[in-house]
Amino acid sequence: MTKRIAVIPGDGIGPEVIAAGMRVLERVNSQRKLGLEFTHFGWNADEYLRTGISMPPGAMDDIRNNYDAVYLGAFGDPRVPDMKHASDILLGMRFQLDLYVNYRPVKLLNKALCPLKDKGVKDIDMVIFRENTEGAYVGMGGFFKKGTPEEIAIQEDVSTRRGVERIIRYAFDFAKTTGRKSVCMADKNNVMRYGGDLWLRTFEEIAREYPEIEHFHLFVDALTMQMVRAPEMFSVVVTNNMFGDIVTDLGAALQGGLGMAASGNINPGKVSLFEPIHGSAPKYTGKDVSNPVGAILTAAMMLDYLGFAAEGEAIEHAVVAAIDAREATRDIGGSLGTKATGEAILRRLEM
Ligand code: IPM
Ligand code: MN
Repeated sequence: MTKRIAVIPGDGIGPEVIAAGMRVLERVNSQRKLGLEFTHFGWNADEYLRTGISMPPGAMDDIRNNYDAVYLGAFGDPRVPDMKHASDILLGMRFQLDLYVNYRPVKLLNKALCPLKDKGVKDIDMVIFRENTEGAYVGMGGFFKKGTPEEIAIQEDVSTRRGVERIIRYAFDFAKTTGRKSVCMADKNNVMRYGGDLWLRTFEEIAREYPEIEHFHLFVDALTMQMVRAPEMFSVVVTNNMFGDIVTDLGAALQGGLGMAASGNINPGKVSLFEPIHGSAPKYTGKDVSNPVGAILTAAMMLDYLGFAAEGEAIEHAVVAAIDAREATRDIGGSLGTKATGEAILRRLEM
């Protein structure tokens, strides 16, 4: 059975790290005869500046109807200061494809990469589920008297029962099927009384359906503190869109930096989007210095999602082996470039 994958390298360092990820994907695909078919799309800042459009008409429907997954690099370019194309494409897909699960594992692969003293690989292994289709990201609000001293700006934070319930349920289901022992929900219901109340009530209700899984609640400010002080407390964390955005950058730092972290934007059973957490890092573009590990682990996550768990695991093993041998980029203590790091991982891939 063929699986169709849309590849969107994007801006900045996106094309370099995606090229490294593609080398790994092509190798696995041919060795294991997975039947993956890749189609490249050149949507990025250059295209947007040239044509004035972010994605051609019909492109979103094409992705929705004809693909199993999207493998995406990064978006963002200083020539597009309002991030219009980035938000049309990335947030556009999250919302229009209803990718409600933002799946962001925080797993330390080698003790030397951890910025916390006295913490090792057994202490840092959690999965953060960020709600991905609501919250402060819905873009509801507006200005009144803009540009005057009386200006008012309103930015709404939207939570729906359905939206909150489905991400919380996904987190509990994940904990159950992967044998994780607890789910922590983080919000700020001491201040955000309405949305927070809905989140907490829903969390308590759903938790009752999973008596074998421990559950606890933290205010998100306390969560950030505990992730640094005692990361071993966390197994599965679920939170809203904005808080999830913030705490997953902290999570990436616990794993050795933004270059290490993978993410999935998932609509279970439907076309889903996989991207490294890092941005386009314009100043490193074309310099062959960016860490491809986040993009390669993202490829592994995508394979896992497509039903190729063993292949995903083999890629993760190869990444760990290359890092252990210090065949890696400078940000994680190696001395190699992007390409050479990708090749070091490829050499260790046992298929
Ligand atoms: C992320 C990014 C995006 C977000 C930006 C690029 C819009 O920071 O995926 O975490 O805020 O969701
Ligand atoms: Mn972010």
